[in-house]
Amino acid sequence: MNQRPPWAPDEIDIERPSVARMYDFFLGGSNNFAADRRLALEYLQVLPDMPAIARAQRAVLHRVVRYLAAAGVDQFLDLGSGMPTAGTVHETAQRVNPRARVVYVDVDPVAAAHGRALLGRTPHTGVVLADLRDPAYVLKHPVTAELFDFSRPIALLMIAVLHFLPDRDEPAEVVGRYRDASAPGSAIAITHATNDYDPEMAERAEAVYRKASHQMHYRSRSEVEALLAGYDLAEPGLVDMTCWRPDGRPSPDPLGGDVTRYSGYAAVGRKNA
Ligand SMILES: C[S@@+](CC[C@H](N)C(=O)[O-])C[C@H]1O[C@@H](n2cnc3c(N)ncnc32)[C@H](O)[C@@H]1O
Repeated sequence: MNQRPPWAPDEIDIERPSVARMYDFFLGGSNNFAADRRLALEYLQVLPDMPAIARAQRAVLHRVVRYLAAAGVDQFLDLGSGMPTAGTVHETAQRVNPRARVVYVDVDPVAAAHGRALLGRTPHTGVVLADLRDPAYVLKHPVTAELFDFSRPIALLMIAVLHFLPDRDEPAEVVGRYRDASAPGSAIAITHATNDYDPEMAERAEAVYRKASHQMHYRSRSEVEALLAGYDLAEPGLVDMTCWRPDGRPSPDPLGGDVTRYSGYAAVGRKNA
């Protein structure tokens, strides 16, 4: 039995590894429990590159937010936002446009509680504890409704989260329901783990995640592309994540540019009319 820290929300089972807290561990954070760390360490046996991948993925998040904010999008719905960590979406977006609005959505109560504690009364931001597979709940939630004007474009951020939706949850349908609720000019940004480069590693990684709060589903490039139906992809399209518009800022690449070791794709799309 692990000791229960005072900040752990009452409703959570700290013995059940959470994908949000495992990711926090990969990023070097401290919002995780012994059970999360144990499973994360087991995953590192399969994919020792994961801390580097997580850092590269955060860098993609920052690039897509800067890109979209510079393109005039000022409402960001961060689905599967995770534990708040350095370089939050609102800081990144508000550096480009101080009036940018951000709603963070996560199913993990620790992520939501830390998000609320960190944001406090930060203007133009909110946190929703919700399962993104229920778009109606997320979109009609009072926090979302107060912050967003749905007659104007929004950006859906789905960074490292769609691979937690199995095919039986119809991820393309889920994305489609958010897309249909958003105005023309709205956008989506995704990253997604792929089994294209090392299918055997992906199978072993999926087996580890079967013991976590949410299972992981590596997908091929064409399967990921199918999740983006109804969006026109911005240049350079759906690409290996480190290749998505490197913008000259220092970006972590401890794997020496070997895209096969990052094993993940990134893309930004704009809703076609
Ligand atoms: C790998 S983390 C990525 C976090 C963040 N997007 C980032 O890039 O730093 C995946 C996050 O998705 C959340 N998640 C997984 N399935 C979810 C669901 N059905 N609804 C909402 N959040 C979900 C997890 O709790 C976790 O915080």
